[in-house]
Amino acid sequence: MLSFFLFITSIIASSHAGITVTNATLKTESVKKSVDVDATGSKATVKQLKFIASVTDPFISCTVDNGDMNTKFDWARSNGSEVVAETGTVPSRVPKTGTLDMMRVVGRLTFTDFVDKAAQNVGEYKCTSGDQVGVSAVYSAPVVSLGEREYRSVLESEILVQHCSVIAFPDPVITWTKNNQTELAPSDRLKFSPDNRSLTIAVVDKSDAGLYICTAKNRLGRGQAYIKLRVKDRLAALWPFLGILVEIAILTVIIALYERKRAAARKRNQEADDANAAAGASASGGGGGGGAVGSSGGRSANDSDLRHRPVRA
Ligand SMILES: *[C@@H]1O[C@H](CO)[C@@H](O)[C@H](O)[C@H]1NC(C)=O
Ligand SMILES: *[C@@H]1O[C@H](CO)[C@@H](O)[C@H](O)[C@H]1NC(C)=O
Ligand SMILES: *[C@@H]1O[C@H](CO)[C@@H](O)[C@H](O)[C@H]1NC(C)=O
Ligand SMILES: *[C@@H]1O[C@H](CO)[C@@H](O)[C@H](O)[C@H]1NC(C)=O
Repeated sequence: MLSFFLFITSIIASSHAGITVTNATLKTESVKKSVDVDATGSKATVKQLKFIASVTDPFISCTVDNGDMNTKFDWARSNGSEVVAETGTVPSRVPKTGTLDMMRVVGRLTFTDFVDKAAQNVGEYKCTSGDQVGVSAVYSAPVVSLGEREYRSVLESEILVQHCSVIAFPDPVITWTKNNQTELAPSDRLKFSPDNRSLTIAVVDKSDAGLYICTAKNRLGRGQAYIKLRVKDRLAALWPFLGILVEIAILTVIIALYERKRAAARKRNQEADDANAAAGASASGGGGGGGAVGSSGGRSANDSDLRHRPVRA
């Protein structure tokens, strides 16, 4: 009777134990960078976090103690979306009470190329086995980025939207600072998205130029990124165009002047030629005629020679 009672409680205990989970934390390292705030030479220190690629592939797992050879796990994001990662189960025989041999089965979800895919990987997961559900998570200190480039140029009076991309779990608190001063607060011109990941300046003016730092913080750490904003004169965009217009105008004037000069020169030459031609015609009239007579006389002499030669032969 006593042994039967123990048997029952042991089954209740193990099914109550349900699923146990292990979580993973993506490892990061920090790089501190000293950045010029402005032309005065003052500096701000920016702490950037990066994933460490050399650590072995992280994984999360769910374990059931009352499993058998057919125990399987289904994995999903806690928001319900499908999981594309390496999964597998590892059964391990665990002798329990003297009368019942139960199987402990571990289901693993492994993140292979986690450095490239960290943005998709961090967050909460659900593993389901039969009617048992476990909630597990991939944690990360905030890895922050404001884009590939250190600078960004924007035209005066345009709208600027700057996105701060943050990989972090638990969800971080995000703040922005400008020129190493106090936190930026929303205003008429300055707006933040509800999660502060997006900063919008409605009508950019010269005073908006400067160093912007996006800081994200959760209980695992604090990560930052920066971008230097340059504000360009509205006319600045027109300068190259105006330059081309001026160039075309100058070229047109030069060509016109040149053409006019050439036309004048041609006219002058024409007049000179005409004058020469007129003078030449009267001068060469007799001489030319004489030459022609002479040459034709010579030719006729030869002609008569040739004509006579075959006769002679
Ligand atoms: C920038 O801010 C940090 C922290 O608030 C401070 O220690 C540092 O002196 C500041 N640098 C400048 C140039 O203001
Ligand atoms: C669930 O979360 C993941 C990661 O945050 C995201 O990629 C996916 O689009 C989300 N799916 C839904 C249906 O919200
Ligand atoms: C693992 O993550 C889940 C989901 O966020 C959480 O409820 C649980 O407390 C975590 N367990 C440990 C040991 O950190
Ligand atoms: C957004 O930024 C404000 C300060 O501008 C801060 O008080 C608030 O906690 C931030 N919210 C989030 C979700 O990061």
